[in-house]
Amino acid sequence: MLELQVLIKIMGGCSNQRVLLLFPVMVMMVVLLLGTSPSRAELQKLKHTPRKADHQPLNILVVGDWGRQGTYNQSSVAYQMGVVGEKQNIDFVISTGDNFYDDGLTGVDDPAFYDSFVNIYTAPSLQKIWYNVLGNHDYRGDVEAQLSPILTQKDSRWVCMRSFILQAGIVEFFFVDTTPFRDDYFTDPGEHTYDWSGVLPREAYLSELLKDVDYALGQSKAKWKIVVGHHTIKSAGHHGNTVEVEQQLLPILKARNVDAYINGHDHCLEHIVDTESGIHFLTSGGGSKAWKGDIKPWNKQELKLYYDGQGFMTVQITESKADIVFYDIYGKVLHTWTLSKKLNNAA
Ligand SMILES: *[C@@H]1O[C@H](CO)[C@@H](O)[C@H](O)[C@H]1NC(C)=O
Ligand SMILES: [Zn+2]
Repeated sequence: MLELQVLIKIMGGCSNQRVLLLFPVMVMMVVLLLGTSPSRAELQKLKHTPRKADHQPLNILVVGDWGRQGTYNQSSVAYQMGVVGEKQNIDFVISTGDNFYDDGLTGVDDPAFYDSFVNIYTAPSLQKIWYNVLGNHDYRGDVEAQLSPILTQKDSRWVCMRSFILQAGIVEFFFVDTTPFRDDYFTDPGEHTYDWSGVLPREAYLSELLKDVDYALGQSKAKWKIVVGHHTIKSAGHHGNTVEVEQQLLPILKARNVDAYINGHDHCLEHIVDTESGIHFLTSGGGSKAWKGDIKPWNKQELKLYYDGQGFMTVQITESKADIVFYDIYGKVLHTWTLSKKLNNAA
């Protein structure tokens, strides 16, 4: 649109001769404009270029459900994240959403951005990019504020989008906006008000999103494919499985052979291996308030970890393996797991 306005201005300000000279250029620009708006939108792609030399592992740290002005052990989790982040020389942080409690941000000037983020995660090792998704609590505030580049101007670590792809060499992360999948937020919101601007009409939003994720996963040449969303797909925690996401997104993850799904929403640390698909379900929702003792029965073969306190997770990825480690607020290792990738003969 901007380019079109510029064109019209150019035309208005030009003599006939100059318009004639400019004509081929204008045709080209219009073609380019049409070319950038294909019939189906694709997910936005970001590239994370590693700071380290080639063939170094990629190290990431994952935290979720955190923004509470430092309370409920948020500051202790943050401190330990700093210590572990230093040891692991992390490349970036992933936040699984519910970034600001209780009701997201009120706007770009909400002091919670400083009180729950900037002034909490102060360790030098955490001064890396934070790739954030939105959680249901974020949707109860001003969603556009969290997506705004103004926040990134305030703190350059902040990157938040609804759904996007992050290419990081051997790994590709697919961030999916899971909140709009939940029926009850629309049909039975109770005392909560959700900011659905940018999401309505919902049916079209969801079907486009599923199509885009399926397409992006299918196109991906990355060795590792990891999907990130706020809501659970498989969880023995308080919320349990998110039926809508399980029914609509999980079949795509299975068909496209993703390695893992990483989420928050349940305030715990959890690792489930789906015996049928082999997909690893990793919950890192222990950024602040935790729900002690809130656990449902689950197949022991599948449930590798359930920790009902606070903490976070790291993932170290090479071509051939991914090492997953969960930590509590004292930095104690709660659980480790190694995913192995058969080195493809053809590769
Ligand atoms: C902080 O973490 C400790 C250790 O897990 C726990 O005993 C305590 O209850 C937590 N405090 C809060 C407010 O969650
Ligand atoms: Zn949530």
